[in-house]
Amino acid sequence: MNTNEIRNKFLTFFEKKSHVIWPSDSLVPQNDPTILFTGAGMNQFKDMFLGKGNLPFKRATTCQKCLRTGDIDNVGKTASHHTFFEMLGNFSFGDYFKKETIEWAWEFLVQELGMPENRLSVSVYKDDQESYEIWDRHIGIPRSNIYQYGEKDNFWPANAPLLGPNGPCGPCSEIFFDQGEKVGCGTKGCDPACDCDRFVEIWNLVFTQYNRTEGGKLVPLPHKNVDTGMGLERMARVMQGVQTNFDIDIFRPIIKSLEEIAHIKYNGQSEHAILMRRIADHVKACVFCISDGVLPGNEGRGYVERRLLRRAIRDGTQLGIKDCFLYKLVPIVGNVMQEYYPDIKQRRENIARVVKSEEEKFHETLELGTARLKEWMDTLQKNQQKVLSGQEAFKLYDTYGFPLDMTELILSEKGFTVDKDGFENELKKQRIQARTSSQMTGQVFDTGPLSRIKELSKGTEFLGYQADACEAKIIALIQGDQLVEVVTVGEEVTVVLDRTPFYGESGGQVGDTGILELNGNQVKITDTKKNNDFILHIGKVIKGDIRKEGLVHAKIDIQRRNSIRKNHSATHILHFALRKVIGQHAEQSGSLVTQDRLRFDFHHFSGLTQEEIIRIEDIVNEMILKNEPVVVKELSIHEARNAGAIALFGEKYGDLVRMVAIGDFSKELCGGTHVNHSGEIGLLRIIGESSVAAGIRRIEAMTGTATLNRDREKERLVNEMCSALNTSEDKLIAKTQDLLSELKNLQKELHKVKQKEISGKVDSFVENAKVVSGVKIITRKLEDATADDLRKTADRLMKSAKDMAIILGTAQNGRVTIIAALSPALVKCGLHAGNISKEIAKVVGGGGGGRPDMAQAGGQWPEKLDEALSFATELLREKILAGVSLSAE
Ligand code: ALA
Repeated sequence: MNTNEIRNKFLTFFEKKSHVIWPSDSLVPQNDPTILFTGAGMNQFKDMFLGKGNLPFKRATTCQKCLRTGDIDNVGKTASHHTFFEMLGNFSFGDYFKKETIEWAWEFLVQELGMPENRLSVSVYKDDQESYEIWDRHIGIPRSNIYQYGEKDNFWPANAPLLGPNGPCGPCSEIFFDQGEKVGCGTKGCDPACDCDRFVEIWNLVFTQYNRTEGGKLVPLPHKNVDTGMGLERMARVMQGVQTNFDIDIFRPIIKSLEEIAHIKYNGQSEHAILMRRIADHVKACVFCISDGVLPGNEGRGYVERRLLRRAIRDGTQLGIKDCFLYKLVPIVGNVMQEYYPDIKQRRENIARVVKSEEEKFHETLELGTARLKEWMDTLQKNQQKVLSGQEAFKLYDTYGFPLDMTELILSEKGFTVDKDGFENELKKQRIQARTSSQMTGQVFDTGPLSRIKELSKGTEFLGYQADACEAKIIALIQGDQLVEVVTVGEEVTVVLDRTPFYGESGGQVGDTGILELNGNQVKITDTKKNNDFILHIGKVIKGDIRKEGLVHAKIDIQRRNSIRKNHSATHILHFALRKVIGQHAEQSGSLVTQDRLRFDFHHFSGLTQEEIIRIEDIVNEMILKNEPVVVKELSIHEARNAGAIALFGEKYGDLVRMVAIGDFSKELCGGTHVNHSGEIGLLRIIGESSVAAGIRRIEAMTGTATLNRDREKERLVNEMCSALNTSEDKLIAKTQDLLSELKNLQKELHKVKQKEISGKVDSFVENAKVVSGVKIITRKLEDATADDLRKTADRLMKSAKDMAIILGTAQNGRVTIIAALSPALVKCGLHAGNISKEIAKVVGGGGGGRPDMAQAGGQWPEKLDEALSFATELLREKILAGVSLSAE
C-alpha cells in the first residue's frame, strides 16, 4: 500500500466518521508567532482546544506537513527519524472522547489497513484507568499487549505535569507495531518503551483533557479534546514491510537518483547509506520549506533551512560528489509527492534554482572556511601551539559547514590536532538551544489580552470590501498587555471592534489608517493589524476620553486606501506581465503594497534588462488603458484552481477562497482590496529593479498620481539643471558634454602645470638637501599633491643624484600619505624603505610598508605631518650613519 493510499484511506475513513477534511497548515504557522515551524497536527487548532476557536466544526482530520529539528542528529542513523514528515491526525474539540478514539483507531488499523491484531501493542498512561479498560474490555486486546507507562512516555507534551509547558495537555495512548523478536535488541524484556527498533510507534492518541497551570496544577478543561498523530512515513514502512522509512515508495526514487549521481550503490548498513538517507531527508525538508515561502538565510527559519541544505551538500562531498547536485533531486521530490502536493511539482524549477544558488554559494563558503582555518593554523604556529580550540572548530562546522573530521584531516596534514571535547561542548550547547526552540513551550498558548478577548468574541467582521465607514461596538481597549475600560486624550491604545472597514495588514497590503469617533471623542488610527480573526486598530486618543460604551463611527482614510487599491491591483497586473515577458517561472515570492508604491519580489535568476523593463511596463499600461473590470468571487479552492487562479507560495488556503480576476488575463487568490476597473490605476512606472536573495529579484513601481508627482519632480530637476547650466532642455546633453570635455582639457592643463612645478621643486629640494656621509637626505611636504604626484616627484629626485634617501609627505582630505624611496646603495647597506615608512607613519597615526627601495604609508593625523618629517630626517640620519658604518666594516 503506497503512501498516497494510506493518506487517502485515513482521511476518508475519518470523513465517514463525520470529520471535516481540513487542509494542512503551512510549515510556517499562519497564526502562531511563538514557533518557527509547524511541528504537529494540533498546532493550527490550539484555540479550538481552549474553546476559543471559531471553526464551524467539532471534528476534523488532517495530513499536516511538519518540521522538527530537535532530533536532527539521529536523521539517517536510525530507521525512522526525519526533519520533515507528514502527520495524519483526527481531532475532537469537545466532541467524542476516549472510547470512540480508541475504537476508531483499532477499526482503521485492523479493518481498513488489515494489520494483524497480534502484532499490535498499546500503551496507556499509568493513571488512565479509563483508557486501559477500553483497550482491555471493549477492544479485547490481550493484557500482555497493554503496557502502562509514566509521564515521559504517555503524556503529551511529554512530562508536562512535572516540567510543563502550561496549557492544554493530557494522557496519551500509543499504538505500536511489533516487528518481532528478530528485529531490535533481542533482549527478553524488550517492550515498546525500549529504544531499539522492534516496536514501531505508529499512532499517538492524545486525550487533551487538562489545562496545566503554574506549579504543575492540572485543571480539567471545560470540554475534553482529542488530538492524534500518526507518522505517515512510519506507517508506510510497516505497511510496505521494508526496513526503514527510507525504503518506502516516496523515498526510494530519491535514494536511487542519489545512487546514480554519486555512483555509489545504496547499502542499508554502510556509512554511505547514512549520508544518503540524510540527504534524502534534508532535501525533501528544504523543498517543502521553500515551497512554503522560506528562503535560505541567516536567521530564524531561513537559517534552519540553510543548515539543512549545507549538511546535505557537505554529505554529498563526503560521498565524493564534486559539483552541485542537490538541485537535481528537487524534481524527484516533486514527482514522488505530486499526488497530494501538486504545487511542488509545478514549482520544481523555481525551487531547484533556489537550492542550486545556495549550493554554489556554499562551495564558495567552503573556500572561505579553508582560508579561515589556514589563518588559525598560522596563529597556532606563531604561538607554538598544536591544538585548535573547540570553539574555532565549531565555528568552522557551524558557519562554514566543515565536518569535524574534515577539519581534523586538514589540521593533521600540518601536524595540528583539535580539542574534540571543546567541540562537543559547543555542539551540546547548540543542541540544547535547538531543542528549546523547537519544544512546545509555555508561550505556545498565549495568555495575554488577546487570549482573553477570544473568550469575549469570535472575531472582527471585516466590511472594508464594500464600506469605507461603519458603526461598530468596542469589544476591547488594550494598553500594553492590559485590557482597560477607559483611555484618555494623548494615550496610545489598540481598539478591537466587532466590525470594521479597516483592513488589517496582510498578504503584503499595509493596514489602513483613519479615525474612530465616539460621541465627539476621537482616536486617530495610525496602523491596523490582524491577529487570528481579530482586527486591531492601533492609534492614539486625540480628543476626549474613550470608553467601552455606545457605538463607534469607524472611518478609514479613503484617499490613502484608494492609492493602496491601485497599487494592489497593479501588483496583480505586474505579476501577469512579468511572467509573460520573462517566463512562467517568475512567480511571486513576496510583496508589499503601500499607498506610495508597490514592491514585488519574484523568482528569476538574473537582473532584468532595460528592454525587458520597458516591455513589462508597456504590457501593464496596456492592460490599465483597456479599463478591464476587476471581479471578486468567493468559490471553493477546487473551482479556483480549475479556473487557473494563481495561489501563492507558502499561503494556506481554506475550502472557500477569494479570487480576484482582472479582465480574462489575471486570476489570483487574494484577500486584499482592489479597484473596480483597471483604468483607475492610471499609469504604472517601474522605478527600481534589484536583487533581494539568490534567485529572487525585486521590482519597485508606482501608480496613479504618485507617478505624476514623480514626473513633475523629474521635470523640476531638468529645469533646474537647465538654468544652472544656462541652456535649454533640448541642448542640455550637448551642453553637458561640452562642459565635460572642457573640464577634461583643463585637467590636462593643470597636470602639465603641476609637472612643471614639480620640476622646479625638484631642483630646489636637491639644492637644499642635507648630506650625511655623502648621502643626500630629502624630507619634504608637498601641498595639494596626490600619492601619484609624490611618487613621480620621488622618481625625478632619485635621478638627480647617486645616493639619496627621500621622504615625501602630503595631507589631503584629512589623510596623510607618505612615500619613502632609497637608492640601491642604501638598500644594499641594509636600509629598508618599507620599514622606514612604517615607523614614520606611526607619528601620523597610521601604518604602511612596501619594497626595500620604495614604499608608501598613510596616517590619519594631518596636523602631525611636519613632526613626522622632522622625525624622518633624524631617523634617516641615524640609519645612514649606522648602515654606512656597518657596510664599511
Ligand atoms: N500531538 C501529538 C504528537 O505530536 C499527536 O505526537
